[in-house]
Amino acid sequence: MNKAFDIGVESLSRNGGAETAGLEAGPSRDTVHSGKFDPTDVAAAKSFGETANGGTFFLETFGCQMNDHDSEKVAGLLLSRGYRQVETPEAARMILYNTCSIREKAAQKVFSRLGEYRERGADKIIGVLGCVAQQEGQDIFKRAPWVSLVCGSASYRKLPEMLAELEAGNKRVTGLDNDTDETFETEITRRDNPWRAYLTIIEGCDKACAYCVVPHTRGPERSRGSESILREVRQLAELGYSEVQLLGQTVNSYVDPTTRHMKFSDLLLEVAQVAGIRRVRFTTSHPRDFGADIVEAIDRESKLCDHIHLPVQSGSTKVLRAMARTYTREEYLEKIALIRGAKRAISITTDIIVGFPGETDEDFAETLSMLDEAQYDGVFGFKYSPRPNTPSLALNDPIPEEVKGQRLAMIQEKQRLIQTARNLAMLGQELDVFVSNKSRRENQWSGHTTSNRVISFSSQEQELLGSYVRVKVTDSGTGSLTGTHVAG
Ligand code: 5AD
Ligand code: SF4
Repeated sequence: MNKAFDIGVESLSRNGGAETAGLEAGPSRDTVHSGKFDPTDVAAAKSFGETANGGTFFLETFGCQMNDHDSEKVAGLLLSRGYRQVETPEAARMILYNTCSIREKAAQKVFSRLGEYRERGADKIIGVLGCVAQQEGQDIFKRAPWVSLVCGSASYRKLPEMLAELEAGNKRVTGLDNDTDETFETEITRRDNPWRAYLTIIEGCDKACAYCVVPHTRGPERSRGSESILREVRQLAELGYSEVQLLGQTVNSYVDPTTRHMKFSDLLLEVAQVAGIRRVRFTTSHPRDFGADIVEAIDRESKLCDHIHLPVQSGSTKVLRAMARTYTREEYLEKIALIRGAKRAISITTDIIVGFPGETDEDFAETLSMLDEAQYDGVFGFKYSPRPNTPSLALNDPIPEEVKGQRLAMIQEKQRLIQTARNLAMLGQELDVFVSNKSRRENQWSGHTTSNRVISFSSQEQELLGSYVRVKVTDSGTGSLTGTHVAG
């Protein structure tokens, strides 16, 4: 996803922002010496940027919302130091890739991007950030010697020092520490989505799912202090954001490190209390840490959105055990029952991995039946991809790619039918929609429901962007709803 803009530091909020279709998962700082950015020192920062480099950077992001949001913070940091963001790599002095290594294909994409600069990267500073950086480390310099910065997400706090080193001409700058207990907080974040503000509340992951690189690439779990989170939400509301999305690989494992010791569900309620905030989302929830208190909070507070992304990964307890997911099929279904018992309908989306080593036809049939039982509103299916530094790499009994492909297709087909039926059941309903897009077609708009469905609708109003309207559903498909604006 390319999020480049040519903007200055003064217009850090409410710019750009692209729409995506379907029910979305949610699967996403300092002076050189002190390591802390002083916002009053913009003049000094500007001259640093301008004199040293002509001040242009291009930043491309791969992967999840955490990465998207990290890029927003990295961009904010660079802008605050006088750099200017440009839309093409050609126009940039510094090219940064914020990378994803969750599956092999994602990691390969980065190396193919880097390959484009083998010949023409000489006059540019090329940097690899994020998960591939953390995973491959110094080896990136061997594979792509024209790269001069390799920095994992746990080291972003040190980016100002690294930038200074780059500007001083150092061709091999790394930030690969992973044992930090700090989170990456910026004075300025250059938000790409003008309607929904992302906020990381917990970084890293302490779960140890057998297939997953995240504990290795993003380091141990670190929760951010509740006061700092609430301060940022208040700032966002003052900037005009009415919707926030709290992010974390296991967002509901949040543990407030301050003396307030707020529970995740209490934090949700308090975020919802901030004046001006109308919608609060959070992703991704881990089933093991998902308790009744979260559903009770949603019941109590209508600003907490009716959508939960709860990755199941497999419907077979045997496979779940091999994956080290720490719950059984039955325990997962108990969580689903909790959610289904809520006072209002809550959408549930999930992630599924097919073809984990040892997954038999019977195991897979249990995953298919999980779709029937859980009645998801969206499923993100993935073929198992063996990853470096993960426990499952050592497992025998690999599943042939062809079988993985067949299983994935079966998941998608079953879910297509389920979703079509669920969307059909919404015909005639009136939904609250936050309008975020004006179509080129006259009188056509689109936005998100609180359950995170995208709905296109017609309205005779002249200006609706950024407003909340009632829309009656008049048509439905597998991944889409259509409606008309109704008064009230
Ligand atoms: N192979 C395939 N899918 C994976 N995921 C994580 N690691 C792997 C892997 N090695 C999926 C999980 C996770 C989502 C973000 O990516 O389903 O929830
Ligand atoms: Fe990866 Fe599991 Fe942590 Fe999710 S909970 S980030 S799948 S290790």
